[in-house]
Amino acid sequence: VRKIIIDTDPGQDDAVAILLALASPEDIEVLGITAVAGNVPLPLTQKNARIVCELAGRPDIAVYAGCEAPIARRLITAEHVHGKTGLDGPVLPDPVMALADGHGVNFIIDTLRREPAGTVTLCPLGPLTNIATAFNKAPDIIEMVQEIVLMGGAYFEVGNITPTAEFNIYVDPEAAKIVFGSGVPITVMPLDVTHKVLVTKERNDAFRALGTPVGIAVAEMTDFFERFDKEKYGSLGAPLHDPCVIAYLIRPELFTGRHINVEVETASELTLGMTVADWWRVTDRAPNAMFMGDVDAQGFFDLLTERLARL
Ligand code: BDR
Ligand code: CA
Repeated sequence: VRKIIIDTDPGQDDAVAILLALASPEDIEVLGITAVAGNVPLPLTQKNARIVCELAGRPDIAVYAGCEAPIARRLITAEHVHGKTGLDGPVLPDPVMALADGHGVNFIIDTLRREPAGTVTLCPLGPLTNIATAFNKAPDIIEMVQEIVLMGGAYFEVGNITPTAEFNIYVDPEAAKIVFGSGVPITVMPLDVTHKVLVTKERNDAFRALGTPVGIAVAEMTDFFERFDKEKYGSLGAPLHDPCVIAYLIRPELFTGRHINVEVETASELTLGMTVADWWRVTDRAPNAMFMGDVDAQGFFDLLTERLARL
C-alpha cells in the first residue's frame, strides 16, 4: 500500500482523483490532503476538498489549507474551465467536517519527517507552490520523499493556458523549477497523456449508471467540465487530467513514457511555464523525470468506474 499526500486545487478532475484514491484502500493510503490556490482561490479549493471527502463518506481525512498565492507571482485562476466555485456541475452540500489545524506546508514537512524515509509519495494535482515551499523551508525532507507523481506540463500537446504552457506549471513556474530540480524521482502526467483520457458519452453514462451519489456527482462534474473542451475544440469529452496520477499508482502498466530531462522556463514572457522536455534526448542534461506519453484509455476508465462503484 502506497502512502500518499494529495496536494490539490479542486477542480472537477482533482475531485475525481481524490475519489479514486479514497476508493482504493488496497493500493493507496491517503495520509492527508493539502489544498493549494490554483483553479480557484484557496478558500474554495480547501472547501471543495472537504466537500469531496464527505461525498466519499470520509470526513475523517485531514484536509489542510496550504499556500494562497504562487511563490513569486500573482495567482492566475481557471474559472473559465471549472466554473465560479471550481466544482461547478453537481449541487453538493457545504462541508460539515472542519479544516485541519495548521498550514498544509507544515503538514507535508511533519509527515515526511515522521514517516520512515522513502515511504511517502507526493501527488501534486495543482500548481507546485506547497511542495516547493516545503522543500525551501525544510530541505532535509527532500531526500525522504519516495516519489512525486504529478499532473503538469506537456510536450507534443504544448499548452492549454498559453500556447506553450500547461496550467499547473504556468501558475507557479518558480515552484515547478524547484520541484524538477530537487532530485526527487518524478513521474509526470502531461497533457500528452491526459488529453487521451476523455469522458465520452458512453463513459459518462457509465458513471451515472452507478446510480450512487458519487457516480451521479462524477457524471455531473464531467458534464460541466467538458463544456470547455467540447465547445472550444470539438473534443469528445472532458479530459480527466488529475485522476491519471492516482491511476498510475494503482496500475502503472496503463502508462508508457520516457525517462528524460525536463526543464521549466521561468524567464521568457512568451514561453513562461513551458516544460522543455528532452523527449529525443538531444541534450546531455541528466534525466530528472519519467515523462509519460501514452495511456491505455479504456483500461483507465474501466479501473476508474469499477473503483468509483465502491463508494
Ligand atoms: C490541470 O489544470 C487544472 O485546470 C486541472 O485541474 C489540471 O490539474 C490541467 O492543465
Ligand atoms: Ca488540478
